Amino acid sequence: MKIFAHRGYSAKYPENTIAAFQAAAQLPIYGVELDVHLTKDNQIVVIHDETIDRTSNGSGFVKDLTLEQLRKFDFGSWLGEEYAGEKIPTLSEVLALFCKTNLMVNIELKSDIFVYAGLEEKVLQEVSTFGMQDQIIISSFDHEAVNRVARLAPNVENAALFANMILNVVDYQKTIPTKALHVALPTAVRKPVLEAIKKNSVVRVYTVNEIDHAEVLLNIGVDAIFTDEPEKMLEFMKLR
Ligand code: G3P
Ligand code: CA
Repeated sequence: MKIFAHRGYSAKYPENTIAAFQAAAQLPIYGVELDVHLTKDNQIVVIHDETIDRTSNGSGFVKDLTLEQLRKFDFGSWLGEEYAGEKIPTLSEVLALFCKTNLMVNIELKSDIFVYAGLEEKVLQEVSTFGMQDQIIISSFDHEAVNRVARLAPNVENAALFANMILNVVDYQKTIPTKALHVALPTAVRKPVLEAIKKNSVVRVYTVNEIDHAEVLLNIGVDAIFTDEPEKMLEFMKLR
């Protein structure tokens, strides 16, 4: 079972920052996961929420702020003063870090309430600038966006995210050109996902921070887990 560091090494470092990604890059894991939004001036930034309120000393929607404005805020001190000074990273800064490694990078296209026109094209353009087509998985809860990615870049791996499982995921999957389902932890043990695994779908599960849960998922045969605690999960896998 492979391990992805969810938002970087987010249990120890401020999520989705260079500090969290650098820490993850030191570990013998399979990959990292990150979230992207578009700024007011159409720059791709790495942040989970639509607003900067929770993870910075500023406030407001990412879509209403330029990159220059966003850079003025501190994205580290909310977790602890020792992380003060962390800036919001651009996607290209994070790709520059990982293109020198053999880790996979799962880029989640965020699709909350605001729709970012052209986000798929922009992300794919950056991936190709870094020549990282084989090192990337692009996922989204917005399955139309997954479809667009599949159409635009059939050579880049994509995945459909599910917060809740639909009853006949095997049939539904025939409508999306993806082999991979990224599912929330409670749904991973339900019948539709077990069926999908039997039919050779690649199932990856988020967010798994408890060893007991990882044990269940290992027995089910999931491909990978997303965890905030990559070292803890590496230790668990070493003992298996
Ligand atoms: O990509 C898996 C997982 O990160 C999806 O949920 O809310 O953590 O972005 P969330
Ligand atoms: Ca995510």
